[in-house]
Amino acid sequence: MTVLTRRIGGVQLEIIVADITTLGVDAIVNAANSSLLGGGGVDGAIHRAAGPELVAECRMLHGCKTGDAKITKGYRLKAAHVIHTVGPVWNGGTLGEDDLLASCYRRSMELCGQHELSSAAFPAISTGIYRFPADRAAKIAIGTTIEALPAAPSVGHVIFCCFSEASAALHADVLARHGSPCA
Ligand code: AR6
Repeated sequence: MTVLTRRIGGVQLEIIVADITTLGVDAIVNAANSSLLGGGGVDGAIHRAAGPELVAECRMLHGCKTGDAKITKGYRLKAAHVIHTVGPVWNGGTLGEDDLLASCYRRSMELCGQHELSSAAFPAISTGIYRFPADRAAKIAIGTTIEALPAAPSVGHVIFCCFSEASAALHADVLARHGSPCA
């Protein structure tokens, strides 16, 4: 279900409520942990839908630092690729959590640019098991992704794939202040 669509330059930014594993985009972003070997939440759902080949490729990546991102194939997913990024655990906001969360979106967009991908979908990184406040995270997600668009000139479509209407409403409040409405 699409909640809001805006256009910034040639890029369409869309907020939807959906299961990210169902999306047929060039890359879905996974809110992983630093082992990259799977877990709960969206990470578990992506690994279940992609099949065991995904964890086999992830094993060869030797983990990922918080704030960084690594790319794999999508295997049995409709998405061609998975970008695995590791968000910060919320610890009250004094341990650099905002910058680390921004880095997840920036690094994921940079990978989209490097691999010449045209579409990507993000979950609300760190807002589940890692307990990052959802409203604060939505501002960082949208703001950083828009700032990173020049680093990914191949990208024409970015989806913020929320798992609840409440999460989508927070993202829509922020995105509505950017760009112009789509026809
Ligand atoms: N599609 C879209 N969004 C989803 C889906 C889905 N299928 N499932 C959950 N969400 P979380 P985190 C939303 O907990 O906070 C894992 O164990 C969810 O409602 O998945 O970054 C990892 O291995 C929330 O809004 O990720 C790490 O150990 C958002 O996705 C840890 O959890 C993120 O929630 C990462 O925690």
